[in-house]
Amino acid sequence: MLRVSNLTKYYKKTLAVDSLSFDVRDGEIVGLLGPNGAGKTTVLRCVTGIVQPTDGVIEVEGVNLSTNEEDAKRRIAFVPEVPTPYEMLTVYEHLRFIAMAYQTMDSFEERAETLMHRFDLYDKRGDLVLSLSKGMKQKLAIACAFVHDAHVVLLDEPLIGIDPRGVHELKEMITSAKQEGKSILISTHMLDTAERLCDRIIILRKGAIVAEGNLAELHERARMGTDASLEDVFLTLTEESPTNLLAPQ
Ligand SMILES: Nc1ncnc2c1ncn2[C@@H]1O[C@H](COP(=O)(O)OP(=O)(O)O)[C@@H](O)[C@H]1O
Ligand SMILES: [Mg+2]
Repeated sequence: MLRVSNLTKYYKKTLAVDSLSFDVRDGEIVGLLGPNGAGKTTVLRCVTGIVQPTDGVIEVEGVNLSTNEEDAKRRIAFVPEVPTPYEMLTVYEHLRFIAMAYQTMDSFEERAETLMHRFDLYDKRGDLVLSLSKGMKQKLAIACAFVHDAHVVLLDEPLIGIDPRGVHELKEMITSAKQEGKSILISTHMLDTAERLCDRIIILRKGAIVAEGNLAELHERARMGTDASLEDVFLTLTEESPTNLLAPQ
């Protein structure tokens, strides 16, 4: 399980995340939604330890990220919004490098082969990463995240830029990770996907939670009927002065 408590992040004077608290339980897929600049990427970067929070506590399966960084990081897999892979390694070498870094070499060959087949990288396994298209680099980043057996999986807009088969495979990977009891936190703009894939949705605006819950709860929060789509709910909850949010729940 992942626990984020009172996470705050300032970039100089810009408040990107404002005292945010939430959990992602074992076997749960949580969607992080919100307009551009809402703070989704910052939250994910803080949880992975790439960005230093200004304040707050992050615990990965009970391990505190700031006091026990290496142990906490080993439990996390991350698919970044913009992958920056090592271009001078081949696809196979890259997967191997990541698995070695995470010290998970048990049955690596099988896992790597399966992942390369799933994400159409098998024919490219001997090619340098720099020769891959943008979408293929994205798929490699996904394969790298799943090549080590992390219990907490974080994905930042992973469905952008990959082809329909890649999207299908990734959704299957996410669903089976859930079945294995992993905690999955995914930021996405694809509301229909969020609607179908996520157990719970957190809607952020200006670094704070404006609503949280399953679809039924979000409908209630937005004071909309059950025939409203997540898009309607999202637009209502993220508008500038949503009067409906000012009333008590
Ligand atoms: N490296 C950075 N330096 C300065 N400001 C940043 C940086 N990264 C993000 N921000 C700012 O923090 C806020 C949240 O951004 P971000 O986390 O990228 O949001 P999202 O992923 O929801 O679009 C925005 O105001 C953005 O301009
Ligand atoms: Mg982002």
